[in-house]
Amino acid sequence: MWGSKIGFIMAAAGSAVGLGNIWGFPTQVGQGGGAVFVLIYLVCVFFVCAPIFISELILGRGSKKGPVGAFESFAPQSAWWIVGALCVLCGVGILSFYAVIAGWTLAYIYFTAAGTLGGNAQEVAAAFGAFTANGAANLGLTAVFLAVTAGCILGGVRAGIERVTKTLMPLLIGLLLVLAVRAITLPGASEGLRYYLRPDFSRLTDFNVLTAALGQAFFSLSLGMGALITYGSYMRKQDNLAVSALWVVLLDTAIALLAGFIIFPTGFSIEGFDPSSSGPGLIFQVLPQLFATLPGGALFGAAFFILLAMAALTSTISLLEVPVSHCIDEYRWPRKKAVWLLTAGTFLLSIPSALGNGAVGRLSSMPAALGGNFLGFMALVWNQYALPIGGLLISIFVAYRLGLPKAIQEITAEGAQFPYTNLWGFLIRFVSPVAIAIIIISSFL
Ligand code: TRP
Repeated sequence: MWGSKIGFIMAAAGSAVGLGNIWGFPTQVGQGGGAVFVLIYLVCVFFVCAPIFISELILGRGSKKGPVGAFESFAPQSAWWIVGALCVLCGVGILSFYAVIAGWTLAYIYFTAAGTLGGNAQEVAAAFGAFTANGAANLGLTAVFLAVTAGCILGGVRAGIERVTKTLMPLLIGLLLVLAVRAITLPGASEGLRYYLRPDFSRLTDFNVLTAALGQAFFSLSLGMGALITYGSYMRKQDNLAVSALWVVLLDTAIALLAGFIIFPTGFSIEGFDPSSSGPGLIFQVLPQLFATLPGGALFGAAFFILLAMAALTSTISLLEVPVSHCIDEYRWPRKKAVWLLTAGTFLLSIPSALGNGAVGRLSSMPAALGGNFLGFMALVWNQYALPIGGLLISIFVAYRLGLPKAIQEITAEGAQFPYTNLWGFLIRFVSPVAIAIIIISSFL
């Protein structure tokens, strides 16, 4: 059980805020055409995803179980447990590539602190290319990050995580604000702000942009694979479920937007910057150049990558906790066995992602439609398809199988007030499932 309402909010925000906000969001904005992506993203977050966020918490707190157990207890003797099982698989799939990028943040703590990246754009880009092509380093760092995640979960996350995230989140936000102020006052920053804030509406009907925005919203909120069912199951009855959910959604969105205010002004202040071709290297190639302009930049840079690694850690913990708690509940494995077996399995799955950034040619170059390389391919499969499909099934389940009266009973348990229950009911029945179905189907056509 979380110790308090704020404890849940911070732990869930810790899960939500991660590489998806600071690395993923600006990358997607760059590839999705700038401001128009931001706009679609915000619509997805508030009208499609937020209602599902509340639904996951309802399933978790109502059943006090992880995804498989939750579906089993609300729909016994049905096939719905399969959705829960897919959630568990999805956690392993996402963790396998997430841990590779999280490993990069560890290396960049060292690179920025030691000042080995050089100052200009070519040098920084070359350093990034050389580093990601180093297979042994990537495998080692991925293994280290997974092992640290395993270590945190072994020791019982709840007390630890709640305490750690409560201190780290304010630090991260403070540092991001400082960096944003510096970025916005760089020469040439206004072009970046224009790119970030002025939409090019011709991209509005591009279904690739729609699927990417929807997938990114799911990923950033940790939605669609039962992480919030699991975290919801540790939630106290007396805490206001829907209000807590909205806090996490707002916090997560604010931090993603803030990251854009750092990356784009900085990028555009550098000559020859093309946001659409920068891809996954964006923050690792752009930010070091910002740090180079700051007094005490090495210190700032190292602090930034330390916090980014921490933000990633509170996210990987939630990713691993889902399959771990599943194996403990369903197969009665001791926690230690569940943690180490799942960590080892995830590591095996992460090998092609770790070697697909220059180390092994065939994994490193794949058709752009398939994500460009193996890591991009995994991100495409899990973020853009698995999570929205999971969210679609969860919304259908809560709206039509569990039913609104029971769901609303959980929202308003112990006299909790929520002024938007009717709006929520409308969104979860009609808007979320229909929007997701349309976007997914059209992206296949
Ligand atoms: N939301 C995290 C991020 O933005 C990643 C994450 C953690 C996640 N747990 C998840 C994504 C569960 C999907 C599902 O970096």
